[in-house]
Amino acid sequence: MSKPVILTGLRANGELHLGNYLGAILPMIELQKKYAGKYQLNMFVPDLHSFTTPIEHDKLYLQIVQNLKKYVAGGLDLDNEDTYIYRQSYVAAHSELTIILNNFVYYGELQRMTQFKEKSDGAKDTSISAGLYDYPVLMAADILLYGAEWVPVGEDQRQHIELTRDVALRINNKFGEELLTVPAEWKKQVEFAGRGDGVRIRSLRNPEKKMSKSIDDPAGTILLSDTPEAAAKKIMSATTDSQGEIHFDLKAQPGVSNLLQILALLIGEPVDEVTKKWEGKTNYGDLKTAVASEVKVFLTAFQKKLDAIDEAELMRKLESSEFLMRDVALQRLYRIQQAVGLRP
Ligand code: ADP
Ligand code: TRP
Repeated sequence: MSKPVILTGLRANGELHLGNYLGAILPMIELQKKYAGKYQLNMFVPDLHSFTTPIEHDKLYLQIVQNLKKYVAGGLDLDNEDTYIYRQSYVAAHSELTIILNNFVYYGELQRMTQFKEKSDGAKDTSISAGLYDYPVLMAADILLYGAEWVPVGEDQRQHIELTRDVALRINNKFGEELLTVPAEWKKQVEFAGRGDGVRIRSLRNPEKKMSKSIDDPAGTILLSDTPEAAAKKIMSATTDSQGEIHFDLKAQPGVSNLLQILALLIGEPVDEVTKKWEGKTNYGDLKTAVASEVKVFLTAFQKKLDAIDEAELMRKLESSEFLMRDVALQRLYRIQQAVGLRP
């Protein structure tokens, strides 16, 4: 296993929606197609990161498997030999390395993390967990354990990648340049992932906000488990504007632009091309009908694939990857334990 490593996390909890599919699942599958053969792809489920937001603990285990099935239905290739799919909590070295790294990351650094500030803002000290605070250190362990240079993630995770780089450089400085692979800097990561600023699907009801499972917005969110008919209805009643003409302008016409974006991604055409076809037209209903029809086609096919997935095959892939990755991770952990003085 000497290929350079691309590593990325597949979020585990909560039901997946069309925004997750178009913004995260599709790009990940394109990445697999583009880089498999030349790179090792670690696509893992950060299940220990799940507790940093409120979840239903009794549903977590099954939800992880159900969500992974959705990645497979979306096109993730289980037979690909360069791809490893594993659950973080099944490779104990992630937790062990976190405890070591904690001593090389500073209190002030973690307090400055935007995600921490946003999620803890306004909350009482007694309701902000140490887990939320330590989230970026566990993420750094996820990356450094496998010597991953490439970590394709959304802009919201940029600070965490930068922190991982800082920690790796700090440790290498102290214990030797060879110890940890420093992930590439952000600009290069963006070029590598080739997805520019990333796609941001908006809520169909409040198009100023992103489509999200965290917001209580069932009419604005299309779940991958919605029936195709219900999803089409949500599109038909999407919020638009009163300008009366179709243009791609996320600021002035976020609702209409969102529909153009969804349509483009579903039919696999650049949004500029799709916009050309609709530009200046005055009947919003026609656009909604076209998008609703594509959403129906997509969901029908997606759900059919999902039903046909062989869960036993998925479990075999998970378990064999976990078996191998435990070994890979332990070897690197051992070198770090040696460097910090825990092993001879
Ligand atoms: P949510 O906001 O629904 O809780 P997550 O934060 O769990 O979603 O995001 C999981 C992945 O899906 C991330 O890679 C994120 O960038 C992507 N994603 C989430 N919402 C959207 C959206 N509305 N448009 C595009 N991508 C999204
Ligand atoms: N924090 C990432 C997210 O919210 C998920 C994640 C955890 C991750 N560990 C990672 C992503 C390591 C890439 C590498 O999307």
